[in-house]
Amino acid sequence: MTQDPNHVLIFDTTLRDGEQSPGATMTHDEKLEIAEMLDEMGVDIIEAGFPIASAGDFRAVSEIAERAQSAMICGLARANLKDIDRCWDAVKHAKAPRIHTFIGTSPLHRAIPNLTQDEMADRIHDTVTHARNLCENVQWSPMDATRTEWDYLCRVIEIAINAGASTINIPDTVGYTAPRESADLIRRLIETVPGADKVTFATHCHNDLGMATANSLAAVEAGARQIECTINGLGERAGNTALEEVVMAMKVRNDIMPFQTGIDTTKIMSISRRVATVSGFPVQFNKAIVGKNAFAHESGIHQDGMLKNPENFEIMRPEDVGLSETSLVMGKHSGRAALRAKLEDLGFDLADNQLNDVFVRFKELADRKKEVYDDDLIALMQVGEGAEDKLKLVSLRVVCGTDGPQEATMTLSVDGEEKSVTATGDGPVDASFNAVKALYPHGARLQLYQVHAVTEGTDAQATVSVRMEEEGRIATGQSADTDTVVASVRAYINCLNRLILRREKLGPGSDAKEISYRDVS
Ligand code: KIV
Ligand code: ZN
Repeated sequence: MTQDPNHVLIFDTTLRDGEQSPGATMTHDEKLEIAEMLDEMGVDIIEAGFPIASAGDFRAVSEIAERAQSAMICGLARANLKDIDRCWDAVKHAKAPRIHTFIGTSPLHRAIPNLTQDEMADRIHDTVTHARNLCENVQWSPMDATRTEWDYLCRVIEIAINAGASTINIPDTVGYTAPRESADLIRRLIETVPGADKVTFATHCHNDLGMATANSLAAVEAGARQIECTINGLGERAGNTALEEVVMAMKVRNDIMPFQTGIDTTKIMSISRRVATVSGFPVQFNKAIVGKNAFAHESGIHQDGMLKNPENFEIMRPEDVGLSETSLVMGKHSGRAALRAKLEDLGFDLADNQLNDVFVRFKELADRKKEVYDDDLIALMQVGEGAEDKLKLVSLRVVCGTDGPQEATMTLSVDGEEKSVTATGDGPVDASFNAVKALYPHGARLQLYQVHAVTEGTDAQATVSVRMEEEGRIATGQSADTDTVVASVRAYINCLNRLILRREKLGPGSDAKEISYRDVS
């Protein structure tokens, strides 16, 4: 794929490992949009999904494959012929398709399908050969490689190489390894396994001990030339390696890590915000590179030093990751053109109809709030209803005070039909959620309800995050409004819409379960 020995391929799995994490469901259109952004920012390989998982996953991978301009498009398949055929059908129209097939090779993972070492070795040979007969570019992963016996790991990697895999990915599935061990493993594999010099070694780290970035970079120093990662480190449990962290680390410390990637780092902030919005997983304030505070210098001493020379406290410039100067404050007299320019500055590229919709919401906000800051606009972009939404809030009036009970009168549109109710509850939020439940009865259980103020002042917008669970399916929802109760109800409805979508993704009338790549076949 590349001749430069110091070029590190960036393999993004936001749409597969990221999206399959509980609660991070994205709609079809959101997946296409994220894939386009990844392609434009220079990601080398996009793992677009797990095609056998559901009809929706298959459609998303196929469409991403058809649309991608320069990125290679990869689909995931377990070690069986049916998965691999389905994966090939989804990626085959890409300019550059790849099949990624895997099996858990550690003693614990071998026990799940109950295969002996020899039986598993045969399965690996047969499935990689089958994938290679369909597709020129095959990646193979021994899942839980970091807990697989050394001799067996060498043996199965050799089998996969001989069967035609050109990329060997070494997953630290449970986030168990540490930097020195990660480096040693890659170095020894490259030195030991026959044929290792003919393939690319990849590193795929999970962040359970907070070492995913360090482990990935250590693997690169030892010879890996592909990093598997996600935007914002999205992923199950503590997530995957964060794309923005490894890319910026190699850029800022190129003196000690002389590796190159093809990533346009100025696109990092906009895709980070978009992924946070569509996945429903907000970025923690002090997250490296993309956190709200990553470039904020609030203490007096720091500010003084920054004014004298930004390098005193900054190792990279905000512009390098696509953060612009945040001086222009918008107000109710700002026009459409100014809003468009500001949003473009913040990394939101809107079509005319999208701008019209945001402009209406911006005017409503500016009427209620004197000054609209960048963070308000970012929050505004995270709101909004999707065309596919089943439930839409039409109106809400809440009565609350010290001499309860609190009461919410609500009109909700359910599949286009308006329904109204008055419900009571323990506080205005509880009363409003009870009203939603009365209008759209459901069995989803609220797991998390979180409120944050976007800016300072009593007229600040509140962003609300909600997470709910229904029959093992989890979804998150977000919204923002100067009225905390309205933001809460919209976040709750947004979350319900995502749960409904997840249910419907499996097909009309189907009670089939979405297949997870953890389901051993
Ligand atoms: O973490 C993991 O092992 C995976 C594999 C499917 C590569 O995501
Ligand atoms: Zn993983």
